[in-house]
Amino acid sequence: MNILILGGDGYLGWPTAMRLSSLGHDVLAVDNYLRRRICRETSSEPLYEVPDLAERAELWQSISGRRVKVSIGDLSDWAYVEQIFTAFRPDAVVHYAEQPSAPYSMMDREAAALTLQNNLGSTFNLIHAVRQFAPECHIVKLGTMGEYGTPNIDIEEGWLDVEHKGRKQRFLYPRQAGSLYHTTKVMDTDLLWFYVRAWGIRVTDLMQGPVYGVETSESAGDLRLYPFLNYDEIFGTVINRFIVQAVAGHPLTVFGKGGQTRGFLNIKDTMNCICLAIETPPEPGELRIFNQFTETFSVRQLAAIVERVGQSLGLNVRTESVANPRVEAEEHYYSPAHTGLVELGLKPHPLTDDVVAGMIRTVQRFQDRIDPSKFLRGVQWR
Ligand SMILES: NC(=O)c1ccc[n+]([C@@H]2O[C@H](COP(=O)([O-])OP(=O)(O)OC[C@H]3O[C@@H](n4cnc5c(N)ncnc54)[C@H](O)[C@@H]3O)[C@@H](O)[C@H]2O)c1
Repeated sequence: MNILILGGDGYLGWPTAMRLSSLGHDVLAVDNYLRRRICRETSSEPLYEVPDLAERAELWQSISGRRVKVSIGDLSDWAYVEQIFTAFRPDAVVHYAEQPSAPYSMMDREAAALTLQNNLGSTFNLIHAVRQFAPECHIVKLGTMGEYGTPNIDIEEGWLDVEHKGRKQRFLYPRQAGSLYHTTKVMDTDLLWFYVRAWGIRVTDLMQGPVYGVETSESAGDLRLYPFLNYDEIFGTVINRFIVQAVAGHPLTVFGKGGQTRGFLNIKDTMNCICLAIETPPEPGELRIFNQFTETFSVRQLAAIVERVGQSLGLNVRTESVANPRVEAEEHYYSPAHTGLVELGLKPHPLTDDVVAGMIRTVQRFQDRIDPSKFLRGVQWR
């Protein structure tokens, strides 16, 4: 297949490019280095340097013999998107190209405006390009479990059957996001659902939980092929952040009570979920939604796991509760369904002690580069 990866330089985009090219697909990775730019501007650089997209593609070709094509440009610019779609008619598009940091989106007006315009702009252009240049193309869109928020009822897989005054209707499951970034993902879903109904495009929307880890089968221990590992408050997701704090001898910073519960997955499972979605496209006119995570943990439970494994490796790890900068429930009910991807064949990689120990060992190789001032940056929701 011809597969376009939007956001191909990113944490998930680059490993996906390697995976799909190793499966023999013709892959074009597109990015405008927005993430690298924001990391520089906010002093949130990743733990180690990551070669640019062209350098990684060259490296990958020299190792695997497979070519990932690369194009650098802004997907919120219609002229650029038009040019990409006329030169490379995709059978599937994996859409990662968004500003993905919740704290960044809450920093100030400029950051919020960038997040809103960039995320909605890229999704809108993608939908129009598919209709105009590749109407059969399957859009695989990365959403987030954060779209649902933390309702006091079970979270279904995308949809809710409602019975009201004796009549029934199926609706998108109610969404109530906890940051501006997450709200842009809700708006993405609404845009896609509208155009699925209006134009009959085919879409898979993956409600993904926070991802951890950096190694996939393609990188196989070669650090030059690893994606970004951010451990700061702006781009670092919680497990990656705790691992780096443990290695640095810094307390694991739990926000408030730590009962905040989410669905998590290993980056290896993200790769497998994307492949499963691509291999089984929905029908035209279908918006298919999967909840993409494998296990749920509270932040307190995650801290306890990292503390236990860190101590078993001789690290001095302890946990500290810090004032919660976010507006969120610190204790809540959480019961989300997640059977769709397992039914398609997903075999989850659980967060075992060995997995945590492996991540700690990777981070220890870069111990000298850890800057503890990045752990807490004081981005306040209010
Ligand atoms: N990483 C996670 O834990 C996680 C969890 C749930 C959902 N997601 C979603 O998955 C997607 C990818 O996440 P990630 O962690 O890889 O983020 P990332 O920031 O590393 O990757 C996104 C990439 O898209 C690029 N990009 C953004 N806007 C662009 C534009 N207008 N034109 C061209 N390129 C653009 C960025 O430069 C970046 O390289 C995001 O949409 C995010 O919302 C991620």
